[in-house]
Amino acid sequence: MTTTASTGCVWITGASSGIGRALALRLARAGRPVAASARSLRDLAELSDEARLVGGFVQAHPVDVSDRSAMLAAARDIASDLGPIRLAVFAAGNHLPMSLETFNADVFQRLVQVNLFGVVHGIEAVLPDMLARRAGHIAVVSSVAGYRGLPTASAYGATKAALINMTEALKLDCDRHGIKLQLIDPGFVKTPLTDKNPFPMPFLISAELAAERIEAGLKSGRFEITFPKRFTWMLKLMRVLPYALYFRLTRQATRQR
Ligand SMILES: NC(=O)c1ccc[n+]([C@@H]2O[C@H](COP(=O)([O-])OP(=O)(O)OC[C@H]3O[C@@H](n4cnc5c(N)ncnc54)[C@H](OP(=O)(O)O)[C@@H]3O)[C@@H](O)[C@H]2O)c1
Repeated sequence: MTTTASTGCVWITGASSGIGRALALRLARAGRPVAASARSLRDLAELSDEARLVGGFVQAHPVDVSDRSAMLAAARDIASDLGPIRLAVFAAGNHLPMSLETFNADVFQRLVQVNLFGVVHGIEAVLPDMLARRAGHIAVVSSVAGYRGLPTASAYGATKAALINMTEALKLDCDRHGIKLQLIDPGFVKTPLTDKNPFPMPFLISAELAAERIEAGLKSGRFEITFPKRFTWMLKLMRVLPYALYFRLTRQATRQR
């Protein structure tokens, strides 16, 4: 048990790398005790060390988000070590691009297990305590790739669209129970996930800037936290276009024939 047990903590999944890691460091530096989850204990331990250097506290809670019972156990362990989970940010995710030639159900299954069920397991794990306390804050990391179908992202986009719909569906019930629920839809952020992209990424920002935007958004009353604005507003506009125009513009933008 640590001295943080009375104040409670932030739980971040996907905290070993990229956006989740940058956010964990930022919140820890701001004085919030952070429980950090991902599969790699080594990366989480490095994060804890780095947080200590900047005067913050990050405790590693390695877990595979696709494992339901392990996620329920992780939430129990975190609450017992650090007190109530006041804020949960579910950022663990993976992207596997898929062409027509490589289209197969295994890829869907893997991405659905991590990107969608990883978040479902997290919400299931934190909800009972938040409902009992009539307080809490949950943030779901989806993506602008969930707005509309994009080439090579049929599996990734499907998981992100599902997250957007699920989060919208839960919002009003969460409001009624005193739980703040937010949706995070980033544009392109430079991380190991996007380092694999073979195409130029417009308005690419650093993970540190993404974390800054997310921290500001978490303090706001907005349902959706989305950035960088110039890019995400363009994609929001694309969302309402009729199919013929949408496909024409997407073909031009992605140089598909
Ligand atoms: N980068 C972007 O441009 C961008 C844009 C929109 C949305 N997003 C979303 O933002 C989130 C973070 O992405 P990122 O770009 O920061 O990627 P990243 O650097 O690759 O980080 C992904 C994180 O998820 C964890 N993870 C993956 N599979 C997991 C599993 N089965 N169980 C537990 N943890 C797992 C990874 O840790 P381990 O491998 O150690 O488990 C890592 O900490 C993802 O949900 C992604 O879809 C990213």
